[in-house]
Amino acid sequence: MADKLIIFDTTLRDGEQSPGASMTRDEKLRIARQLERLRVDVIEAGFAASSNGDFEAVKLIADNIRESTVCSLARANDRDIARAAEALKGAAQARIHTFIATSALHMEKKLRMTPDQVLEQARQSVRFARNLCGDIEFSPEDGYRSDVDFLCRVLEAVIDEGATTLNIPDTVGYAIPELYGDFIRTLRERVPNSDKAIWSVHCHNDLGMAVANSLAGVKIGGARQIECTINGLGERAGNCALEEVVMALRTRRDYFGLDVGIDATQIVPASRMVSQTTGFVVQPNKAVVGANAFAHASGIHQDGVLKARDTYEIMRAEDVGWSANKIVLGKLSGRNAFKQRLQELGVSLASEAEVNAAFARFKDLADRKSEIFDEDIIALVGDESVSAEQEHFRFLSLSQRSETGERPHARVTFSVGASEFTTESDGNGPVDASLKAIESQVQSGAEMLLYSVNAITSGSTESQGEVTVRLQHGGRVVNGVGADPDIVIASAKAYLSALNKLHGNVDRVAAQG
Ligand code: KIV
Ligand code: ZN
Repeated sequence: MADKLIIFDTTLRDGEQSPGASMTRDEKLRIARQLERLRVDVIEAGFAASSNGDFEAVKLIADNIRESTVCSLARANDRDIARAAEALKGAAQARIHTFIATSALHMEKKLRMTPDQVLEQARQSVRFARNLCGDIEFSPEDGYRSDVDFLCRVLEAVIDEGATTLNIPDTVGYAIPELYGDFIRTLRERVPNSDKAIWSVHCHNDLGMAVANSLAGVKIGGARQIECTINGLGERAGNCALEEVVMALRTRRDYFGLDVGIDATQIVPASRMVSQTTGFVVQPNKAVVGANAFAHASGIHQDGVLKARDTYEIMRAEDVGWSANKIVLGKLSGRNAFKQRLQELGVSLASEAEVNAAFARFKDLADRKSEIFDEDIIALVGDESVSAEQEHFRFLSLSQRSETGERPHARVTFSVGASEFTTESDGNGPVDASLKAIESQVQSGAEMLLYSVNAITSGSTESQGEVTVRLQHGGRVVNGVGADPDIVIASAKAYLSALNKLHGNVDRVAAQG
């Protein structure tokens, strides 16, 4: 029987560390449910000790996910580890992932600790964690740039204390595939008790080699766990992309000879969900999940594919979850059909009241847009999944006037808590005027870092526009997303959604890498 490779998804932890990718608790649970449908083995749900919000998110996911192991990150100290264990109490299968930096640079400049102190702290932390949880992962942060002799001593010690997975991060994305593969192999050969743990790879993408490095860690190094994120989301240039690494292993199974338990048909829905939730758009030529990944434009290619698909295609679009845009519902569809479609899409709303509210939004949308696609429903439910207490600012209505030669003007009505406001402003364009109108009332002082518009479904101007607004305030960066057939309204919704995130979040401790 072929070896099994463990897929460890860290979209909700390392991915969320990407500036602007912060997600609400409910958004995280929705993504965790999708990761469970995707059948990832381990979901790293967050960093419980970093903030109350992260603790609550890890707890919510631990309490609700039954099939995948749920993991929390923790620095190598008793407080962080105890907090992680507390958040994971309700999990069907729990893992604590503890880490401490081991490179000379990090130990000296960041931790200001000697190597012996780091070794001792790693040992004691794993011992402490092991008394709270049977599944312990240890990561030597900046492991790839660490002295190999010292690293072997640390790894041997933590295995002795009961670590069950050893993860070797290339924290800064410095590795080269062959060298990284050799590095993992050397560690496995030199650590005397290496066979008592599963070896894992965690590669960042600063030089665009995260997927290649991870695969080399598996093929050359013998690792049996890959840490990755949906769409490669993550710090700086991101992490190893789940969709790419999984499809490389599948498509070239002849070479790797390893099995992954992933349901690949859930890849594209997962990619869309993460992109819509964070507002991080997927580039069209991105492997597997980009809009052009299976598009053939040149006549020669089209001709070849029509004659025999495998002339130019090494994977089938439908195997990774691409489906032709399907009209799923229309304005005559009833509440039951809507509810059933939500179930088929794997969306579960918390109460009948939420279903009713989402159905009302659906009816409103169906009045303005003749064809409703799955993507429209997901965007609509995305709005609905924000619970009332998180939605401090709520869009109500908008009117705007723009005419050639005239300065555009907008009037926006929205609620702030229990009060309703109508504000007006001019602007360079109708979007600018609408956002200025909102800001004139709210006076958040936030700086806008990004504004982008995308069509939710491709092919026609009938599509809903999906707008992402990235705001920065008081050292925090948040993304707001809004969808509507009218892009001015979508923009106002996105702006209010970003303000809600700025309003509702608690400061968090920055995690490493
Ligand atoms: O990149 C890194 O080193 C990390 C560790 C915390 C595993 O994310
Ligand atoms: Zn990382």
